Amino acid sequence: MPVPEPARGLRVALLGCGVVGTEVARMLLEQGTDLAARAGAPLELAGIAVRDASRPRDAAIPRALLTEDAESLVAGADIVIEVMGGLEPARGLLLRAIEGGAAVVTANKALLAVDGPTLYKAADSAGVDIYYEAAVAGAIPIVRPVRESLAGDHVRRVLGIVNGTTNYVLDQMATGGLDLDGAVRQAQELGYAEADPTADVDGYDAAAKAAILASLAFHTRVSADDVAREGIRGITSDDVAWAARTGHAVKLLAIAEQTGEGVSVRVHPALVPIDHPLAGVKGAFNAVFVEADGAGPLMFYGQGAGGRPTASAVVGDVVSAARHRVLGGKGPQESTYAARPLLPPDAAVTRYQVRLRVADLPGVLAQVAGVVGDHGVSIDTVRQTGPSEGTAELVLTTHAAREASLAATIAAVRTLEPVREITSVLRVEG
Ligand code: NDP
Ligand code: HSE
Repeated sequence: MPVPEPARGLRVALLGCGVVGTEVARMLLEQGTDLAARAGAPLELAGIAVRDASRPRDAAIPRALLTEDAESLVAGADIVIEVMGGLEPARGLLLRAIEGGAAVVTANKALLAVDGPTLYKAADSAGVDIYYEAAVAGAIPIVRPVRESLAGDHVRRVLGIVNGTTNYVLDQMATGGLDLDGAVRQAQELGYAEADPTADVDGYDAAAKAAILASLAFHTRVSADDVAREGIRGITSDDVAWAARTGHAVKLLAIAEQTGEGVSVRVHPALVPIDHPLAGVKGAFNAVFVEADGAGPLMFYGQGAGGRPTASAVVGDVVSAARHRVLGGKGPQESTYAARPLLPPDAAVTRYQVRLRVADLPGVLAQVAGVVGDHGVSIDTVRQTGPSEGTAELVLTTHAAREASLAATIAAVRTLEPVREITSVLRVEG
């Protein structure tokens, strides 16, 4: 009987050796035997492209593999892993890898949410795989379930905490008594937030992930620019304390919904009832709920960031791509056949909790309630504290209404003579 030929090793090029890349390299090098058995061929790490090869690195990284010549590394690779981040040169390198016939794996949600379709189209034309499980919620398997496991179902809603840094910051504001700046500094010290925390704090990172999830869930192209985005910069310690007093936690949520009219995708801080599972997501963890007609509610929970958890998702994708190289076949293509209309941000339906300081005079509550009612918005609860120095604090929670009606209501309430200040307006979700 002929002895089977040992499978040819697959040349793997790694672009980036930072937080994620270091752990990807470690897994490829330390788990080579298991990965070869699972992939059907040895995965040979051909090189690791970095900006500065002379920088000190983790002891697990063989210096001989480091190169500053990413272009040469990509040429001739079977699988290219991109964990550099940023738009360029990541996009150009991925395109050249695809055109050269390599399968690609990326964790770069910023690039995918801005220009994913160019990469998907190129991969389709070249007949190669593009995988990106790590781009949304780190270690949590969410891209594959939405793209593949739910391909036979009708997803109605995706709701989640997809940014670990802001979840940590809000958690510290609630439990550690820190203000926003103090909590961000702490997140930086712990390595969650970057030196420039803008992408996390202002919701860009969550918006990119929301765009990717919405595109997959609704078979419709959604880019980062289509996502209504509001970060946590305006959240005060007072908001967080009031949230707790009214039985809520403040969370930065990504919400993608499909209604009869179209698709709405938004990222904003919201009050979540304390008994809702999302309120229990602490620290830098992530959680995503998916509601589908057939499957019903599904929940995915785990570490949304960090080198090792993210590398787990990346290497899983590498094994999938490698199996296709060895056995034939190809992963799913971009699916945009539904091309649902994208709804404007003010079409979303939500509830508001409004805190306002008013003159403590007879009839003021009725006046405020009258203006709210005139805009077709219904009040669910009212709570009053004070008075202090002739001013009372009102906390109104509305029933669900269109964002446009709620915004018009707030604008009108603001003009009422007894209203001293609208202290905060937060959406209530879950
Ligand atoms: P880092 O900043 O830690 O690492 C980036 C790496 O890429 C570094 O090794 C850097 O080289 C290299 N690099 C950057 N630009 C170039 C360039 N022009 N040419 C060659 N090499 C370059 O990033 P992370 O590891 O944190 O993130 C990587 C990707 O993974 C990003 O897309 C990010 O969004 C995504 N991601 C990150 C997660 C996390 O928890 N960190 C979680 C999920 C996804 P050098 O070392 O020489 O500076
Ligand atoms: N900065 C992101 C977060 C990790 O805090 O969740 C990368 O997706």
